[in-house]
This record gives sequence, structure tokens and C-alpha cells, in this order.
Amino acid sequence: MLFATLASILALAGTTLAQTPAGFAPSVNKTLDVYYGSTYITPGLMVRKSSTASKPTIGVTGEALTGKYLLAMIGEQFGGATRTTVLHALLQDYTPNGQTLNGTTVLSTTATGPSSYFGPAPPAENPQHPHNYIFLLHAQPDGFAVPASQRSVVQSRIGIDWVKFMADAKLSAPLYANYLRVQSGDNTKRAFQA
Ligand SMILES: *[C@@H]1O[C@H](CO)[C@@H](O)[C@H](O)[C@H]1NC(C)=O
Ligand SMILES: *[C@@H]1O[C@H](CO)[C@@H](O)[C@H](O)[C@H]1NC(C)=O
Repeated sequence: MLFATLASILALAGTTLAQTPAGFAPSVNKTLDVYYGSTYITPGLMVRKSSTASKPTIGVTGEALTGKYLLAMIGEQFGGATRTTVLHALLQDYTPNGQTLNGTTVLSTTATGPSSYFGPAPPAENPQHPHNYIFLLHAQPDGFAVPASQRSVVQSRIGIDWVKFMADAKLSAPLYANYLRVQSGDNTKRAFQA
């Protein structure tokens, strides 16, 4: 009984280590700190669509970063057996901006591309279910550009295969990740119109 309990705790600890949803590739263990306003995103947190309209503040805790970083945000949805993905953001040139927030070394960019941020907007579905939105932070290779083979999917945003993108763009494995969830058909209004 005790052993069974310990085993299940250990199993749980093993599965909660990943900062990416179960089944999502690539799997990443280190947390990307993500804040929407004052809300800290713990991996898998369910949030309202209205709180995610503007791009989040991101960073890392406990590590000194140098160089440039690339952020991808990928929406993942399952309808029956079908998995679809949407590229919600691909933003380059993140660097530490000298600020800290709640212990997080903040990374920022003035870039709005290659693919600008657009917040989660899962369509109404019956039955309702949460959609995943995954954040991946990569070291940005010198001279990074979207490879020709990926230009049309980056432009359409639909059906991005991140493992293939990484290979084509010669990215190494993501360093940090996180994800949130938004319920399908969440039509909450924004608290502030800005
Ligand atoms: C994540 O942690 C697990 C368990 O310690 C380990 O097996 C796996 O290799 C790690 N993955 C990465 C990408 O570091
Ligand atoms: C501060 O960061 C920690 C994780 O490092 C998190 O658990 C906590 O919720 C954050 N607090 C605020 C106020 O953002």
C-alpha cells in the first residue's frame, strides 16, 4: 500500500516534469516563465481568452542568458482523432532587457515577426474542451530566417509541424517551455479596451 502510494507519487513527479502537454513533441523540462499581466502561467493553467489578447511577458528564473532567442507559440487542438495546430506567434530577437519580475529575468523583443502574436480564440465546440497553447523558447541561430520550405505554413499559420520546422531551420532543441489552456467557445470580453 505504502509502496504503491510512493510509486504513484514518483510516477506523478515524472510526468509533471515536462513543461509541455503530454504527447506534444518536442518535450521540454525547463520552465519558461510566462506572465499575462500579473497572472503567472503554471504549465497547463486554464485561462480566459480575454486575458491573453496581448503578447505575454516572458523570461527565465535562475539562469543568466546571453544572446538572442526565438519564441514560438503553437495552438494544439484535438477534434476526435484529428490533431490540428496553429502558429500563434513566431517572434525573434528576444534578449534580456535588464528587468526582473518576480525573480524572472525578463526577455523582450521589438520584433513583430516572422509571425505576429495573436491570442487564443478557440471556436465554439460541442462538447466544449480546452485547447493547448504551447510556448517554446529556442536559442536563435545567427542569421536566422524562416527557411523557404516553411514560408507558406508560417504565412498561413495552419498545420505547423514544429519538429519539421526545427529540422528545416536548423534549430537545436527548445531550452524552455510552458503552456496554457483556453476553453473552446470562450467569448469573455476583455476587461479593458486598449
Ligand atoms: C526530461 O526529464 C526526464 C526525466 O528526468 C528525462 O528522462 C528527459 O531526458 C528530460 N528531457 C530533456 C529534453 O531534457
Ligand atoms: C512568481 O514565480 C513563481 C515561480 O517562480 C510562481 O510560482 C509565482 O506564482 C509567481 N508569483 C507572481 C505573483 O507572479
